[in-house]
Amino acid sequence: MGLAVHYRTHTCGELNVATVGKQVTLAGWVNRRRDHGGLVFLDIRDRYGITQVICDPEHSLEVHRVASELRSEYVVQVSGTVARRLPGTENAHLSTGAIEVVADSITMLSPSRTTPFPINSETIQIDEALRLKYRYLDLRRPCMRDNIVLRHRVVKAIRDYLDEREFLEIETPILMKSTPEGARDYLVPSRLYPGEFYALPQSPQQLKQLLMVAGMDRYFQIARCFRDEDQRADRQPEFTQLDLEMSFVAEEDVMSLIEGLLVFLIEKTTSKHIKELPFPRITYKDALDRYGTDHPDLRFDLPLVEISDLASRGNFAVFQNVLAHKGIVKGIRVLGAGEYSRREIDELTEFVRMLGAKGLVSLAISPNGEVKSPLTKFMSTGEVQAIIDRLEGQLGDLLLFVADDAKICNDVLYRLRVKLAERLKLIDPNELALCWVVDFPLLHFDEETQRYEAEHNPFSGMDEEHVGRLDSDPLHIRAKQYDIICNGYEIGGGSVRINVAAMQHKVFSLMKMSDEQIKEQFGHMLEAFEYGAPPHGGIALGIDRLVMLFADEESIREVIAFPKTQSAMDLLMGAPSPVGEKQLQELHLQLRTEQKR
Ligand code: AMO
Ligand code: AMP
Repeated sequence: MGLAVHYRTHTCGELNVATVGKQVTLAGWVNRRRDHGGLVFLDIRDRYGITQVICDPEHSLEVHRVASELRSEYVVQVSGTVARRLPGTENAHLSTGAIEVVADSITMLSPSRTTPFPINSETIQIDEALRLKYRYLDLRRPCMRDNIVLRHRVVKAIRDYLDEREFLEIETPILMKSTPEGARDYLVPSRLYPGEFYALPQSPQQLKQLLMVAGMDRYFQIARCFRDEDQRADRQPEFTQLDLEMSFVAEEDVMSLIEGLLVFLIEKTTSKHIKELPFPRITYKDALDRYGTDHPDLRFDLPLVEISDLASRGNFAVFQNVLAHKGIVKGIRVLGAGEYSRREIDELTEFVRMLGAKGLVSLAISPNGEVKSPLTKFMSTGEVQAIIDRLEGQLGDLLLFVADDAKICNDVLYRLRVKLAERLKLIDPNELALCWVVDFPLLHFDEETQRYEAEHNPFSGMDEEHVGRLDSDPLHIRAKQYDIICNGYEIGGGSVRINVAAMQHKVFSLMKMSDEQIKEQFGHMLEAFEYGAPPHGGIALGIDRLVMLFADEESIREVIAFPKTQSAMDLLMGAPSPVGEKQLQELHLQLRTEQKR
């Protein structure tokens, strides 16, 4: 492997029966030391693996003396001879499990304090705050090393794939002007221009479009993005996108490139299988109707079914009230759960209440056809049967219903659907279910700000046939937008863009921006579009989320070398942190007293 020979001849993952008899030198950390009276066994670990070393006092007293003083995580250099392990002592879990190194000499290169948590246990649960504070120790653990290696492989494969297809990797600045993409900016005060600020990019959106105007044709970047938004398991204040843009393309071109790339990445870097190829496409409206979310998990079916029309029959007050207030009623069929106990149904009811629902109506169909539900008291047998038929309920099934305004109803059932799939063990851990969500509306109306807002970003293009609606009916314009979803996570999104200044101006106007504001914030984009802007489109994939899914992790923190906590803190370096008066002065800043920590 061409390692420098000064410290070692081989790595700790390299030796096997083919190297028996060789004189070797290894360097690494003491993963474990076992003292068997006379013999000391050392497991030496490096990034590549673990090799067992035997320190036999009958072979060398000095080796045995040094080995006796070693402790876990000491860094050592060991020279010796590779020997076959005695029959019955081989370890099939290790690539080096058939051999051991009989040590002729050991040098302790660096001692270690007792680590705050064990490095050599894969099973022990370690407090995450402790792991993040000592991330350099956490990353020594093989599971974390594997994630880092996987991430490298994914990024490398992305570069290879795109390089072969004429994409240029181009860096864009980190000190930028604010790009309003929905989240709050991280700001950097300027020393040279008192009172002025750079913003860290939320994404390189505008610059990649300008690179198309510049004729670069095909651009990509492994781009760090910064968004000051609420943290979740799949969000970090800084995260990494595969950002990409192409000239002279329609939606299909971007989507088929990305589909090819994702299949390549999955085949090259994972042992997972893809549920369906080509990736199914589902409209934004169908996704909400059928799954209650625009990022549905398609590894399992369990569709949501609306029954508002049927629920208005009879006189069940809960349904009547909700419908009178323009709410909806939707249900889900839980196959074979008709025998769920009262306690199990109460548990599910508690779950939906925590998510903001007011309750959960159940309808159990026993194996002999008896229907148990609060609905039977308020609806005729025929009315109840119509609901069962709509959900395709069978003997032995449980049907669950939520009535609420559409947003809550969908959101609650979206989460209930996932919970039920887990409970019913409908999820194959080795499966990746990818899909495209398409046919997004260009704009939605935000009640709070009383203005139109872009569904994706203000640069998305629109269906040519709908351009006329910009004036008459802006909410019914179909955007040339596509999101890519994997196992219920939005792993990417993009669009074919507007490349006409007047149309871009119009969209900004609809977003209630004044001409002044448009000129100040986006004048450079509009001006660029006046110098021959090619039709163009692109996408960005969330690399952290992608690798998280490939690695079977539940949080993107597990696939980022040095992540921030859920509350946006860096526990290792201790950021954010106060700065001195001198620095503040240079930056022309004065803190408000209430903000000092
Ligand atoms: P968007 O905002 O959808 O699009 O981002 C693209 C993808 O980036 C990932 N992502 C995140 N990952 C971790 N932490 C976060 N805080 C976070 N926010 C987003 C998601 C998401 O799908 N400029 C456009 C792309 C384009 O139109 O070309 C953009 O940034 O996986
Ligand atoms: P209540 O009238 O509040 O006693 O509720 C009667 C039944 O309807 C209980 O099983 C509640 O869990 C359920 N329920 C109440 N409100 C709703 C709602 N908005 N959606 C679905 N079920 C509800």
